[in-house]
Amino acid sequence: DWTMGAYREEAIKQIREQVGDKNVICGLSGGVDSSVAAVLIHEAIGDQLTCVFVDHGLLRKNEADEVVSMFRDHYNIPLIHADESDLFLGELDGVSDPETKRKIIGKLFIDVFQKYADQIDDAEFLAQGTLYPDVIESVSFSGGPSVTIKSHHNVGGLPEKMGLKLVEPLRELFKDEVRALGHELGLPASFIGRHPFPGPGLAIRCPGEITREKLDILREADAVYIDQIRKHGLYDEIWQAFAAILPMRTVGVMGDGRTYDYALALRAVTSVDGMTADYYPYSHEFLGETATRIINEVKGVNRVFYDCTSKPPGTIELE
Ligand code: XMP
Repeated sequence: DWTMGAYREEAIKQIREQVGDKNVICGLSGGVDSSVAAVLIHEAIGDQLTCVFVDHGLLRKNEADEVVSMFRDHYNIPLIHADESDLFLGELDGVSDPETKRKIIGKLFIDVFQKYADQIDDAEFLAQGTLYPDVIESVSFSGGPSVTIKSHHNVGGLPEKMGLKLVEPLRELFKDEVRALGHELGLPASFIGRHPFPGPGLAIRCPGEITREKLDILREADAVYIDQIRKHGLYDEIWQAFAAILPMRTVGVMGDGRTYDYALALRAVTSVDGMTADYYPYSHEFLGETATRIINEVKGVNRVFYDCTSKPPGTIELE
């Protein structure tokens, strides 16, 4: 792709100019954006980049292993796997307000980064995979008063106290452009095609209080749901799909017994950039089969809803 080839060269030049001979740390989230940013920066400055993968305990099933093996083993990018799940889940214990969750996670991310940044000699920069929609959605509705819909924990600049400057090579790009750039950089198609995943992770797919039990159920259910989508050849038609665990239990019946388990919401949307979205029109057959599979295969779920809200008025995530 000519445009992305030119963008890549220009971005690499700019990263080298900005960074000089200093070191950069990059927070990997497991998502496409931070991964593309990391590979681009690695191409520009090699081992001056160290990636820090913060495992907040809010990742999807097998996600941590996949990210670590791709970056450390496949790309040979220096990577610190920071398993801080006890810290994050401890601070989130008993918290149900969405903005409070985001603020806690955002603050801990910065604390954790600070801790690892301090261990890396001459680290003067922090790289982030911030995209253009993140930049504008966090700032204001155009023409209107400055209103934040949801505070994105990876946007808004870093507190002065961190003493790190930002490198944000994707700031001018939309999602589809980031994918084109990832392709240009040789990232595997299966990885580039992955649906977006938010920095706060499963925390915002678990409305109400977050518990380890709910997270475990959610991870299993989400994996079955995504497997269904792939088996039906729908993954690439959908912009983002995920399960969310609802903060309620309902009564069901299984075999001779009564169940009293969690209800799950399934979400799937089509979108260009995440700023507006339409719910995905699955067939009834698909929905019925998926609900049956999830309830049969995932212990702790006995009811499945499909969320047919578009954005606006809904947001893509439940929080
Ligand atoms: P919403 O829910 O605001 O989501 O319609 C729009 C897109 O942004 C993702 N999202 C986030 N990404 N940090 C991120 O990196 C965040 O705090 C965050 N909140 C939402 C969401 O997954 C969707 O793709």
